[in-house]
Amino acid sequence: MCGIVGYVGRNNAKEVILDGLTKLEYRGYDSAGIAVVQEGKINIKKHVGGIENLKNLIGKDPLKSHTGIGHTRWATHGAPSDINAHPHTDEDETIAIVHNGIIENYIELKNVLTEKLNIKFKSETDTEVIAHLIGLYMKDSDTLEDAVYKATLDMRGAYAIVAISAKDPDKIVAVRKDAPLVVGLGKGSNYVASDIPALLKYVKKLYLIENNEMVIVRPDKVEIFDENRRPIEREEFNITWDADAAEKEGYEHFMLKEIYEQPKSIREAITRRLDESGKLKMDGIALDYSDLNKIRKIYIVACGTAYHAGLVGKYLIEKFAKIPVEVDVASEFRYRDPIVDDSTLFIAISQSGETLDTLEALREAKRKGARILSVVNVVGSSVARESDDVFYTWAGPEIAVASTKAYTTQLTCMYLLALHMGLTLGRLTEEYFNSFMEELLEIPAKLEDYLNNSKEIEELAKKLYNRDQVFFIGRGLDSAISYEGSLKLKEISYINSFAIAAGELKHGTIALMEPGTLVLALATQDFLYEKMLSNVQEIKARGAYVVAVAKEGNEAIEAQANHVIYIPNCSDGLTPLLSVVPLQLFSYYVAKERGCNIDKPKNLAKSVTVE
Ligand code: AGP
Repeated sequence: MCGIVGYVGRNNAKEVILDGLTKLEYRGYDSAGIAVVQEGKINIKKHVGGIENLKNLIGKDPLKSHTGIGHTRWATHGAPSDINAHPHTDEDETIAIVHNGIIENYIELKNVLTEKLNIKFKSETDTEVIAHLIGLYMKDSDTLEDAVYKATLDMRGAYAIVAISAKDPDKIVAVRKDAPLVVGLGKGSNYVASDIPALLKYVKKLYLIENNEMVIVRPDKVEIFDENRRPIEREEFNITWDADAAEKEGYEHFMLKEIYEQPKSIREAITRRLDESGKLKMDGIALDYSDLNKIRKIYIVACGTAYHAGLVGKYLIEKFAKIPVEVDVASEFRYRDPIVDDSTLFIAISQSGETLDTLEALREAKRKGARILSVVNVVGSSVARESDDVFYTWAGPEIAVASTKAYTTQLTCMYLLALHMGLTLGRLTEEYFNSFMEELLEIPAKLEDYLNNSKEIEELAKKLYNRDQVFFIGRGLDSAISYEGSLKLKEISYINSFAIAAGELKHGTIALMEPGTLVLALATQDFLYEKMLSNVQEIKARGAYVVAVAKEGNEAIEAQANHVIYIPNCSDGLTPLLSVVPLQLFSYYVAKERGCNIDKPKNLAKSVTVE
């Protein structure tokens, strides 16, 4: 969704800001803009569409300045347009701001500003309200930070706001509440951003700004204040990724690069958690026997792909730890008065750690007394910060909107978590654990092997890309993977796809089977293999075109399916880490054949920070 970059220092602000905004393009946006302080004035350029449009608008204008802010906007209040694009200013154009989030009481505030103070609004955004409020308070404030602080007292909602003033050219003031904000620490240059990838090229150290904090950023000084404006000491956060982690490195798309990174990221997620003797060390998780023994119920709550990782997590925790698990879509959980108390463990799964629905569900569970554990990729994100226990997926930056390596590392974490619970509670023998771990450790190499020999998927996609609809079916763990396969295909290729548990087909959906209907049938579970064969037979009898996914050696399905994709052999419990990969590749190549914008599909954003 929206992205923020701010710069104050010795270099040309325009270059740093445009470069940073480019790094945030993956988040999804529909307009972009920049404001700099130039010769005592605010100079703003903004344009609907991509950053290229903004660059064309700027043209040869050097926008020479050492202080500036930039923004990529994903429209919420008001259509994507030049006028609604950020930055916004007050009436005198002495301050400029960019904003991520939503101001809930903006209509109320706008009415007061227009009716009582006769302020003329240019845009339809909630953000312009903030600009006018700050402008108004500037009239009787000594500093920009005083005015920003006063404005925040009037606002309700979620925000990361970054402001500059023509009267105070060497300073950026930023505040946050429920929207991410980091400050990059350079030498004679400091930076502000909504996300770390924007700053990877420039800094190795950051301050993670917490809720309700204000930060004043100057070229040689960064000061952080709490909500009562008391100064705060903050530990520096070291960035371990290098700038390449957010580059395509020769791949045509980030999605393809991230698919191919999976063996490495899965391996990393496992080996970071093993000590020299092969025992699990659950960094960030302090759940011991007495904590786990108290737990009567677990909720796994997440959205989209992360929710699908939760479906696999339920299976694993129930199998290894024998604790009942419910999996909920976060936007539903928070509005259904779930039964939660201090014997509940709430597990949030989120790549970004900023998904508002997940965050609000977490807060709801916390209010009711649950212990909060999160499985998160982005270090220091809101979900991580608000959790009691944090298990990082260590997938590195995931840039493509369609989640791939974040998903398989979420799965990896769910394996480790479930094993840890089972072992700690004595519901799993050491022997079982050792042999399962041994097999888990073999998965990255098997996946590498598979990826190196996966050319057939591209060929298959070339043959099938023109379908209007696709069904995904499976049983047990395969059913969880079919949901993920279906989501992947629809979000990047815009094909109407639908996933259903194979056994449920004949209760309605089979009515849609016609000659030629494309069905991807996952049949990787040995103990359900024959049942799947029957399901495939049923849809074949109605003329469906079936592409099956099966384990090497299970060839009986060839008699039923039109095409079989074989994944490396492994135990049933481990197939999700392998079987999802041909589905990711299939979606990728289908979308490519259809000429879709693979890394940035229409209407979607990488991190969904609105309800
Ligand atoms: C994944 O391909 C999707 N783009 C989307 O479903 C995503 O998984 C969902 O929005 C949750 O995001 P999160 O993991 O950052 O919370």
